Amino acid sequence: MEHTKLRHLIDPLDFSAEEIIRLLDLADDIASSPKSYYGVCEGMKLATLFYEPSTRTRLSFEAAMLNLGGKTLGFATADSSSASKGESVADTIRVISGYADICAMRHPKEGAPLRASHYSRIPVINAGDGGHQHPTQTLTDLMTIRRRKGSLSGLTIGLCGDLKFGRTVHSLIRSLARYEGLRFVLISPDELKTPRYVLEESLIPKGIPFCEVSSLEDSMPELDILYMTRVQRERFFNEEDYVRLKDSYILTAEKMKLAKPDMAVLHPLPRVNEIALDVDDDPRAAYFEQAQNGVYVRMALIMTLLGLDEGRVFQHA
Ligand code: CP
Repeated sequence: MEHTKLRHLIDPLDFSAEEIIRLLDLADDIASSPKSYYGVCEGMKLATLFYEPSTRTRLSFEAAMLNLGGKTLGFATADSSSASKGESVADTIRVISGYADICAMRHPKEGAPLRASHYSRIPVINAGDGGHQHPTQTLTDLMTIRRRKGSLSGLTIGLCGDLKFGRTVHSLIRSLARYEGLRFVLISPDELKTPRYVLEESLIPKGIPFCEVSSLEDSMPELDILYMTRVQRERFFNEEDYVRLKDSYILTAEKMKLAKPDMAVLHPLPRVNEIALDVDDDPRAAYFEQAQNGVYVRMALIMTLLGLDEGRVFQHA
């Protein structure tokens, strides 16, 4: 490795709990005065290497770098890159290291961004690897939870839908398990339960209370956060199973009557059918605000990985 200080974000635990809080403080400050950060990355470039489709992650990364006064380059599909000719991730990142200052990579294969980081001379950010992790979505989720609830501690958090393939859920549990007084309600059909390794790595060793249930309605009244997820069609082996499970949970305005008045509904998006449109106007619906927070938190992340956050002091309100 040429740069001793080179840092990547591959796993949600790559940053300590204290570093996460500092990053969220920076993101809050950016959200309150985004224009004051223009120019921080002047003359720098972000590469977005997306081997899998994306709207929010790729475009919010690009918006983040543009907001910081930098520039972006990259590809949005594997087909439009030399991966289609058989080029390896290792060779690609060696080349991109000479073209950009930092890169965000999404890949269908679990572990691909980690492998890239081993060959990279620039910070690599995991923008989602298969059904494994999505750490920058987690930063977005943490920022939204903290802004809505004032804290990341002492909450009952319901995660609902495809808990098996949903990488955002795996990353969020992994990250939240470091905060105090949390309780998880894992709501899914039997076939889409949270992988055992996620429970065994994050919850069981720390004695963090959790339950696995199938009814959304029964769980609603106790939740402070409801994190809805899409059934991940692209990870299913056969279409029949997807069709059978895809509408397992549909949150509606009627069901929202069962929830606490200050519960927040999050969803990493895209949604398909799991949140009815009649929920969108409910003040508890936080998912579009969450997508917007993704820009601020990625601005903070780019600054942090490039060492441009140093010397900045924030006070979390
Ligand atoms: N939440 C999220 O990862 O969305 P995209 O797939 O659109 O990037």
